Amino acid sequence: MEEKKWPGPKGMIPEPDRNAADANMHNRRYLDQLLVEMRVIDAVEPDLTLHLFGKTFSSPIMMPAFSHLNKVGITGRTPMQEYALAAKEMNLVNWVGMEPDEEYASIAEQGAETVRIIKPFKDHEEILKQIAFAKEHGALAVGVDIDHVFGKNGKYDVVDGIELGPVMFEDLCEYVRAAGDTPFVAKGVLSVFDAEKCERAGCAGIFISHHHGRLPFGIPPVIALREITEVMPETKMKLFVDCSIESGYDAFKALALGADAVSVGRGILPGLLKEGKDGVIAKVKKMNGELSEMMGYTGISDLDEMDPSVIYKL
Ligand SMILES: Cc1cc2nc3c(=O)[nH]c(=O)nc-3n(C[C@H](O)[C@H](O)[C@H](O)COP(=O)(O)O)c2cc1C
Repeated sequence: MEEKKWPGPKGMIPEPDRNAADANMHNRRYLDQLLVEMRVIDAVEPDLTLHLFGKTFSSPIMMPAFSHLNKVGITGRTPMQEYALAAKEMNLVNWVGMEPDEEYASIAEQGAETVRIIKPFKDHEEILKQIAFAKEHGALAVGVDIDHVFGKNGKYDVVDGIELGPVMFEDLCEYVRAAGDTPFVAKGVLSVFDAEKCERAGCAGIFISHHHGRLPFGIPPVIALREITEVMPETKMKLFVDCSIESGYDAFKALALGADAVSVGRGILPGLLKEGKDGVIAKVKKMNGELSEMMGYTGISDLDEMDPSVIYKL
């Protein structure tokens, strides 16, 4: 017999499937409450060119640091390489998450400028080895997703049978040193507290993110972004943002609030898994159009002109 749930007092019946701990839900709601004013007089068609780490890209919308997709069981398909090819064709920054060295090399060979994000393995030698491998393969930057330390049981997580471990400040300094002249990015920063440590460690960039909801009740990354830009206005670190960036309008809001570039994550998944490279290209083209539309209507002609004063919170 189906178990009956107590519906709660009148007026307090929970929305179906609502999970208040789900940071993705709060993020979506927050982004949707950000509105923009119009500054159309003197506005011209915008230029989306992004300059990053000494290279030039066609848009501030980047590919996500995905992983494991070649194992999802679509016979003969390699989504990790397919989205790299989309990045190459569109001249976008490509990011890659937890992949073994051979797989990383094969993705990097697709020719896109690629950033390798390495898990915070308990075995620090493995992290240093993977940093060196990425450098040998011409990575645009390297980094560690510092927000993937704990699992759902509150213990250090284990992924694919590999133990993860804590990231101490000294570790971060060591990774930055190992990266040398290749920029090092800490992925998974959601506070001024961590951003300041990343700056002191010498990170070239931080990815403001909660990794699609790793942290229950995590604040929306754009809130953390706003605080970081307020408290650290002079920071030289590049500020990247992801989580629920599904449209060019979402991208615009993060960029206007101070992000240098954003990643679309699960937003590319349906197109990627159905049509491969072409599905990703279609999605990013649509997002570029929306971003350009919103920049045009707010009188922002290029990324250097982004201005948080066009944004209002409902
Ligand atoms: C299938 C999948 C695999 C991912 N693997 C990694 C990873 O290995 N390393 C990492 O830093 N983030 C990983 N992520 C997180 C993404 O890089 C990104 O932070 C997250 O999806 C948030 O963006 P979204 O809400 O647009 O999906 C993964 C996400 C997905 C959906």
